[in-house]
Amino acid sequence: MTLNEIRSKYLAFFKAQGHTIIPSAPVVPENDPTTLFTGSGMQPLVPYLLGKDHPSGKRLVNSQKSFRAMDIEEVGDNRHTTFFEMLGNWSLGDYFKREQLPWFFEFLTKVVGLDPARLYVTVFLGDEKNNVPRDTDSAEIWKNIFSSVGIDAKDVLIGSEEEGYKKGMQGGRIFFYDAKKNWWSRAGVPENMPAGEPGGPDSEVFYDFGTPHDEKFGNNCHPNCDCGRFLEIGNSVFMQYIKKDDGSFGLLPKQNVDFGGGLERISAASIGNSDVFRTDVFEEAILLLEKFSEKTYGDAKFTRSFRIILDHIRAATFMIADGVRPSNTERGYVLRRLIRRAVQHANKLGVAEDPTDDTILVRCATLFTEEYGDAYPELNDEVVWSAIKEEIAKEEKQFQQTLQKGLREFEKMISGDITGEQAYLLFTSYGFPFEMTMELAKERNVSIDEAGFREYMKRHQELSRAGAEQKFKGGLADHSEKTTRLHTAHHLLLKALQLVLGVHVKQRGSNITQERLRIDFSHGEKMTKEQIAEVERIVNKKIHEELPVTRSILPKEKAESLGAEHEFGAKYPDMVSVYSVGPADASESDPQFDKAFSIEFCGGPHVENTSELAGTFKIQKEEAVASGIRRIKAILQ
Ligand code: ALA
Repeated sequence: MTLNEIRSKYLAFFKAQGHTIIPSAPVVPENDPTTLFTGSGMQPLVPYLLGKDHPSGKRLVNSQKSFRAMDIEEVGDNRHTTFFEMLGNWSLGDYFKREQLPWFFEFLTKVVGLDPARLYVTVFLGDEKNNVPRDTDSAEIWKNIFSSVGIDAKDVLIGSEEEGYKKGMQGGRIFFYDAKKNWWSRAGVPENMPAGEPGGPDSEVFYDFGTPHDEKFGNNCHPNCDCGRFLEIGNSVFMQYIKKDDGSFGLLPKQNVDFGGGLERISAASIGNSDVFRTDVFEEAILLLEKFSEKTYGDAKFTRSFRIILDHIRAATFMIADGVRPSNTERGYVLRRLIRRAVQHANKLGVAEDPTDDTILVRCATLFTEEYGDAYPELNDEVVWSAIKEEIAKEEKQFQQTLQKGLREFEKMISGDITGEQAYLLFTSYGFPFEMTMELAKERNVSIDEAGFREYMKRHQELSRAGAEQKFKGGLADHSEKTTRLHTAHHLLLKALQLVLGVHVKQRGSNITQERLRIDFSHGEKMTKEQIAEVERIVNKKIHEELPVTRSILPKEKAESLGAEHEFGAKYPDMVSVYSVGPADASESDPQFDKAFSIEFCGGPHVENTSELAGTFKIQKEEAVASGIRRIKAILQ
């Protein structure tokens, strides 16, 4: 079945079960500063999963445009894509396991026509530590479902993924896995969830392609094995828990179902080919690339390059349609990387351009707008369509020039083996990617000092980090104790302003002396007396909570993905210094950030604990400094 067929049949199936079809939210989230892109269908629905009434009712269904930036490096195998469509259906305090599991099974077997004997399922083993019981209900429901089609479904205990490789299939059909595999929240396992975050046990369905197990991945195969035999095609999350302030789990006001299924993956199962790039939406683009490169997709030497181009250009098409433009920060940077990587791999395939027509990558993008135009009408909009063409062509041209210039420098610089310093100079001075230098070395049969290159890069990053720290001293008059205390208060204040006024609040300038702090921030109106009092109350509460202040050095992208605040328009090096305030048990790991009250790109200095602020935080003045920019002066009394 084609993607379009499966999508419309899924929507129709759940509509018949009383669901309202809701549109896909943009791939760029609205009103959610915690993440750059929409990565799952539930993301725009969080307020409703937490208990708010949804205007379209308690049963919802859609197909959500999703993008996962962390998968960029993984693209190239048969199943990973950065962009994908997630089929989703939700019960907001309405039906639960007894309806959800049979419905999804019926959809897969009766509507899509998958053979039930090829379906395997996983359920939650339970988590004593967090007082969440084993999901025996789901196991029981699955047993009955399979029995209704004549399959005697045995349940087996696996535990962790590692244990899966030891224990293998054991003749099972229903597999109990631990929280790493069968618990879902936006933050992952229960331990990583911040207070207030919803989550719950889940049940995944896997399709068995029947390919032989590859022992490279482990001794024995099991549903969560990565060898390619099994593909996860859908996940029903029973969202009924919420993490409480004290770290324990409580029940949400209502029991929800949050289902997510990979549209391309279900289509791959329906055609019995485990390669998602063999689904119909990629067919025309593959033919085009094959024609102009004179390479074939099936040739193992080139398959990875084909897949990277297909995935990245499709993702770029949807991103541009939702308003993202190539740049050096945040979303724009991700888009830039996608297009540039696609260009690199088109070069690798030796794609020949037709000078009388659009570039081949632009033509691929056009094919995607045609494939997806019915489901996502925004792609048919004249203005959007020309933006897609223009932005891709512009970025391509710019990057090809960078590559050509780099190539000329390469010829000038290199006569024999390539030193680490030469590769480093090519990269930092001319933007010539290291991957390209490696390839040229291979072509010319010369060696390249990769370790030396990495060493130079490390030093470079350390230098720019030091530079960033200098930069941040900019806003501080000195490093005296009084100034440092006000600097920490400044971080608390920015966060409090965002909580009270909204996420549009961004820092636009700051200046801190021993006597007072000053912050300029984006906000359209004068603050009310009540708002000022509320901001003061929050800051003072955080001072009294005696929260530790922790510094971490992180890759810039990582800090961004954690939602760390940075000053508008500022440029940052690859590795950045980040200060987080709270929680009480700060460690080096991510949970520290998940529970943090504030996270900011910052060179310091700061106090070690908010208790050192010793005083009452008071806003002295709130005024306009420019259109849309307010200024606050505040002190610690
Ligand atoms: N929200 C769940 C997921 O992304 C369905 O897997």
